[in-house]
Amino acid sequence: MLKNSHPEAPSQNNKNNTQGSLHGTWASRWTFILAATGSAVGLGNIWKFPYIAGENGGGAFVLVYIACIAIVALPIMVAEVTLGRMGRQSPINTIRNLIKESGASKSFGVIGWMGVSAGLMILSYYSVIAGWALNYIEYMISGVFQDVTAEQAGTIFDDLMKDKNELIFWQSLFMLMTVVVVMCGIHKGLGLASQILMPLLFLLLIGLLVFGYQQGDLTGAFNFLFGFNFGSLTWQSVLVALGHAFFTLSIGMGAMMVYGAYMPSNTGVFSNVLMVGVLDTLVALIAGLVIFSIVFANPSIESSAGPGLMFVSLPVAFGNMLGGLFFGTIFFVLVSLAAWSSSISLIEPAVAHLVESKGFSRITASLLLGMVTWVVGLGSVFSFNIWTEVKIAGFNFFELIDFITANIMLPLTGIFVAIFIGWFVKEKMVQEELSGDNQGLSCVWRWTVRYISPLAVAAVLIMGIYPRMT
Ligand code: PHE
Repeated sequence: MLKNSHPEAPSQNNKNNTQGSLHGTWASRWTFILAATGSAVGLGNIWKFPYIAGENGGGAFVLVYIACIAIVALPIMVAEVTLGRMGRQSPINTIRNLIKESGASKSFGVIGWMGVSAGLMILSYYSVIAGWALNYIEYMISGVFQDVTAEQAGTIFDDLMKDKNELIFWQSLFMLMTVVVVMCGIHKGLGLASQILMPLLFLLLIGLLVFGYQQGDLTGAFNFLFGFNFGSLTWQSVLVALGHAFFTLSIGMGAMMVYGAYMPSNTGVFSNVLMVGVLDTLVALIAGLVIFSIVFANPSIESSAGPGLMFVSLPVAFGNMLGGLFFGTIFFVLVSLAAWSSSISLIEPAVAHLVESKGFSRITASLLLGMVTWVVGLGSVFSFNIWTEVKIAGFNFFELIDFITANIMLPLTGIFVAIFIGWFVKEKMVQEELSGDNQGLSCVWRWTVRYISPLAVAAVLIMGIYPRMT
């Protein structure tokens, strides 16, 4: 899907390089949209969004989340894609070159470094949860969920959490899958597969929504997710909503900068980014409706059940519907694939950096980073069994890594990206890069990244973290 030898041969010099990247260019704007959606749509939408919405009381949280996407995350995504297309290299080198050209402070290099580290830290636990999804494919095939009740589904999940060897096996398998693809270069195979499979996942979710309508409590789910009750909203939930807006759109860690670097010059940025944002949000909202329609029809499942929510509620649906085990198998295959196409974009910026700047081969870099991330991931495995009682600042290991990355590192990197492009990169260069876009929109966007995005993110970070410190 990447044209490797782009006809308008890419130049090494990023200033003159308005045509393509050294690594190639997406064949069309649709390839960009699908690849970026492949990175954005993942466990964040289907697993994480429903459970954090449940933990944070539903309605008002969802509204704040949508506002964060529209007002903060989408403008920053435009900024990242634009920076990527201007630099045409890996995030660390793109930022380094743009710093040189604009004479900005070297401290902006933190954008690349913090992003790359956040990606690896997220991957450490992402591979554990994706491992659960892989394990559930086996459960579906073996038929353990046939006619299952919500209590039984809960017990099966709890038993899995206690079995650390099983968890490590599936975590390792998923990590291996990720490393193998990155070793071979990410653009063939999986990219193509996600273009076909992503729409299939969408269709299956719609099918599950019909199940929720017929046999679950879809009205209850709808009222929970869209009944805006602001009474229960705290600054911490606003911070979680903001962090998730970054997490779900894969921003604040360089993935979108890399995808922007491969974007053809003759297409606008805004419409493509909007498309990815809309698709990503739709998948999350539908997954939420499906899961809560099952939750509210089964009193033994708590809406605030936490990370196990999807793994307890969906098997109840699949175990009790016609052909459910077949569809359940396909569903968990698709979730695993969605996680796979995201996990690759979590490790790729770090691999690209070791290859570009430290002279590693792609194979060594992928293996090395995969190993380190796997070891850190063991901490997340243990937080569901032998380390459940080990807490730092009230968080277990898995929660701590998730909190630090999604709720602190991604938003912080986002602030730096907004300030960098809004105040330091030469306005003329940015305007040139966005010349194919609507100019009115471009003005509104510039104003947003200069003022609204950094201030809003900083305010939420301070208000959300302050109560934890006192
Ligand atoms: N957006 C992905 C998801 O929702 C996770 C991700 C975050 C991927 C950051 C890449 C970068 O699952």
